[in-house]
Amino acid sequence: MTVTLRARSVSRTVTGLALPLALLAAGTSAATAQGEVNIYSYREPQLIDPLLKAFTEKTGIKTNVVFASAGLNERLAAEGQNSPADLLFTVDAGRLSEAKDAGLTQPVDDAALKGAIPQQFRDPANHWFGLTMRSRVVYASKDRVKQDAITYEELADPKWKGKICVRSGQHVYNTSLIATIIAHKGEEFAEAWLKGVKANLAQKPAGGDREQARDIHSGKCDIALGNTYYMALMARNEKNPEQKEWGNAIKPLFPNANDRGSHVNISGMAMAKHAPNKANAVKLMEFLSSEQAQKIYATANNEYPVNSKVEPSDIVKSWGRLKPDALPLENIAKYRKKASELVDKVQFDAGPSS
Ligand SMILES: [Fe+2]
Repeated sequence: MTVTLRARSVSRTVTGLALPLALLAAGTSAATAQGEVNIYSYREPQLIDPLLKAFTEKTGIKTNVVFASAGLNERLAAEGQNSPADLLFTVDAGRLSEAKDAGLTQPVDDAALKGAIPQQFRDPANHWFGLTMRSRVVYASKDRVKQDAITYEELADPKWKGKICVRSGQHVYNTSLIATIIAHKGEEFAEAWLKGVKANLAQKPAGGDREQARDIHSGKCDIALGNTYYMALMARNEKNPEQKEWGNAIKPLFPNANDRGSHVNISGMAMAKHAPNKANAVKLMEFLSSEQAQKIYATANNEYPVNSKVEPSDIVKSWGRLKPDALPLENIAKYRKKASELVDKVQFDAGPSS
């Protein structure tokens, strides 16, 4: 695993867990009095750096980030009360709930946070707070799909046989979506639905969301499931300009726009149970939910701001209106294990022919 430590504008990338831990802990004990906040982040550094920079400019409080793609909850648990972590940043409400359920977080009862973040996008007991929203929509071929509306349920309709592409059913983006289907329609329905979608697959699930757009572009399939922000990442990809063509081949359809709304998930934050710099961490939480930071999120990441006073970016608005499914996000945590079991049970990732 690669772990990146960022402290005082110095970035080091090291392999393994023991070394960066020691570095962060050592840096922290001396620095606490100077006003710092320590973050364990599953979110990539380039996504949060502009926000942290703006926070430091505004408050003078420095930020230290340990980034890892996996294992941060385990690290928090292992460190216990000696942990230097103040805040945990991650994507997916399920992961935030898991951290809460594992006893790794503490509640933050804060009027500014409650005012900025709608109830649906925060933990009822104030252990975690959403910062941005993304919707899991249908990418549809502009050339071959004429309809302008769709439901998740319809993906199991045999009319799509051999026409659907999707990444692994076990990916957190998909298990979270399936968890909402279980919450709304029950386990039996969800299993039959998954079987139906599997029967409609054009190929074995593989790749990320963008690769599904690539396969629509090349004609392998007509529709796919994908997160909204990838459409912006493809449309503006100067590094890999072929992705512009992938993005240009698709149009987003917001599923269930005419009934319960489209599945949304969040990126969010939680206060670590033993946060040593709690007051500073609360300031950062409040800042990240403020209009200033939410504007940065909206433009830099092309996610939907959770703060309703802030508009999405122009490109996001150009996709049409998002009606978010109002299902409280704690349901994702509640049903995600079951969703994962169903994916295995129907052998979703084996593809259409098994
Ligand atoms: Fe993603």
